[in-house]
Amino acid sequence: VKGGFATFMDKEIHDQPQAVADTLLGRAGTDGRLQLDEMRIRESVLRTVDKIVVIACGTAAYAGHVAKYAIEHWCRIPVEVELAHEFRYRDPVVSEKTLVVAVSQSGETMDTIMAVRHAREQGAKVLAIVNTHGSTIARESDAVLYTHAGPEIAVASTKAFLAQITACYLLGLYLAQLRGNKFADEIAEDLAQLRAMPEKIQRVVDNEEHVRAVARSMKDEPTVLFLGRHVGFPVALEGALKLKELAYIHAEGFAAGELKHGPIALVEEGQPVFVIVPSPRGRDALHAKVISNIQEIRARGAHTMVIAEDGDEAVVPYADEIFRIPQTPTLLAPLVSVVPLQIFAAALATAKGLDVDQPRNLAKSVTVE
Ligand code: M6R
Repeated sequence: VKGGFATFMDKEIHDQPQAVADTLLGRAGTDGRLQLDEMRIRESVLRTVDKIVVIACGTAAYAGHVAKYAIEHWCRIPVEVELAHEFRYRDPVVSEKTLVVAVSQSGETMDTIMAVRHAREQGAKVLAIVNTHGSTIARESDAVLYTHAGPEIAVASTKAFLAQITACYLLGLYLAQLRGNKFADEIAEDLAQLRAMPEKIQRVVDNEEHVRAVARSMKDEPTVLFLGRHVGFPVALEGALKLKELAYIHAEGFAAGELKHGPIALVEEGQPVFVIVPSPRGRDALHAKVISNIQEIRARGAHTMVIAEDGDEAVVPYADEIFRIPQTPTLLAPLVSVVPLQIFAAALATAKGLDVDQPRNLAKSVTVE
């Protein structure tokens, strides 16, 4: 059942290239027109949407954070991301022009179900991005875009996360086309970049032994920090969550720009810090800023574990470990940059002799509020 792997978690990490490929499959022609599975929202309504609110919990909410960067950039629609359990209780501003996107692997997370119900009561349209066919969230939403990750058995989410991000990109491109934010050839180019991702994810998975060896050497660490910027920020949060869930190690993710506003006080001799480095080919000088963050923490004794693109030599002088990822357009980079963090958490938990598939105190699907 585990396909020759020691744990479902390992298997599901290796399933990720296929999960992304399957989520893309048959969804969009070269014209980018997306096939939603159950669409009960008229195109005229989607053209007038003036705000998107993503509601989700845990890892699914981090997929929503990634979606915000892509959808705002591509579609020029404001996107909020909110934990489903917070959304419902704070009297959120939603209207008939709000598109609520509910992201959930199981489709049975009670916090998210209740938020979906609340949104619909306020007149919002709800689009579900779920993995489980016929689940409650799928049934109760106005439209459904299924992720085709296949069953996810390990309690900690891996392939569902990549499939959720992929589905969010498809949604963003669909809206961009529908609303005229992108020309057809731009959509075709973005889709080609997306279709290249499974092979790139495979290359990262193929390099797992380096990550595993580092993880084994760190099994007695009490705390690990994660820094990322732009789409690397939700990746840092996800890396920290994986480590908490699987290895019971204190872990925190920060936006790299926030470092000097507080978290740098935590850095002392030997503190392990993962840094997700943006592409040096991206705009906005973010790469240089993150390199200077690595310098700052290293000068204070941090043990720096850097996730950087192939060919990015600027990281070399400041990195104790470098985990390479293939060159990727900035917005799509989470699909590759999160993979070493998943492998790290699983390998460290294994080294500690823990139950990787069934961490203590956690349920696969949280069906109570
Ligand atoms: O089934 P869902 O995607 O709605 O679940 C949401 C969270 O409970 C889930 O992502 C949780 O955070 C995982 N344990 C993360 O690994």
